[in-house]
Amino acid sequence: MMNSLPDQFHALVIGASGTIGAAFVDLLEQSPRCASVRGLHRQSTPAIDFANEASVADAAQALANGPRYHLIVNATGVLHDGATMPEKRLADLNYPQMQATFMANTFGPALAMRHFAPLLAGERAIMAMLSAKVGSIGDNRLGGWYSYRASKAALNMLIKTAAIEVARTQKNSVLVALHPGTVNSRLSKPFRGEIIGRPAEAAAADMLQVLDALTPADSGSFRSYNGAELPW
Ligand SMILES: NC(=O)c1ccc[n+]([C@@H]2O[C@H](COP(=O)([O-])OP(=O)(O)OC[C@H]3O[C@@H](n4cnc5c(N)ncnc54)[C@H](OP(=O)(O)O)[C@@H]3O)[C@@H](O)[C@H]2O)c1
Repeated sequence: MMNSLPDQFHALVIGASGTIGAAFVDLLEQSPRCASVRGLHRQSTPAIDFANEASVADAAQALANGPRYHLIVNATGVLHDGATMPEKRLADLNYPQMQATFMANTFGPALAMRHFAPLLAGERAIMAMLSAKVGSIGDNRLGGWYSYRASKAALNMLIKTAAIEVARTQKNSVLVALHPGTVNSRLSKPFRGEIIGRPAEAAAADMLQVLDALTPADSGSFRSYNGAELPW
């Protein structure tokens, strides 16, 4: 697994407490070629909570004395919480929901790119940011889910922009937006995720295979779990 990375590579998963994040950690821990997997989340030490801007910088600082990472996966994201479900119509739009969604799906991951891209290994290294196909503007046929769609579309722009900058100084790095497919998880549960979603382990395995095949020329692209390039 991840044969394109050096033997005894180091990996970091942000959002390791999530369904898909935990599946990435499990798979990487099972790989004899992976020397270490670090999982960060809101309750880890150090903790990463996107509602607390300083926590992102502090966590990166705490890891700066450790190994450089050949693989960083950001698997954080929100679609709903106990109180709020994704907006179906314009009449549902409100600042608190839009702000909370953008905080978790857009601003937090952007800060994670800021503070963790410098920790990528100088030889081949991959940073994958979990996005979502419903964040594709070109593919939006059904409408609805305003904040979630917009937060992921904006995330995609931030990833593309960061990839252009990072390529200037870290020429062997690959920075991509990655769609996991529909996965049975906490996030998809209210939307028949248990019925229409795949197990997180299968999705994570597919995504690792896609990442393994990417080259620096692919940096800044939006990929599906099957390797296909998605429309922006
Ligand atoms: N499941 C799907 O069908 C599907 C489809 C398309 C895209 N995705 C994307 O895949 C990614 C993972 O989703 P999942 O299905 O694994 O969801 P999940 O099980 O709900 O996990 C979400 C993760 O995000 C973390 N998180 C949420 N808000 C945060 C915040 N403010 N600061 C820091 N961490 C925060 C959660 O931390 P806590 O454990 O502390 O809550 C958890 O680790 C997301 O980006 C999602 O948009 C999922």
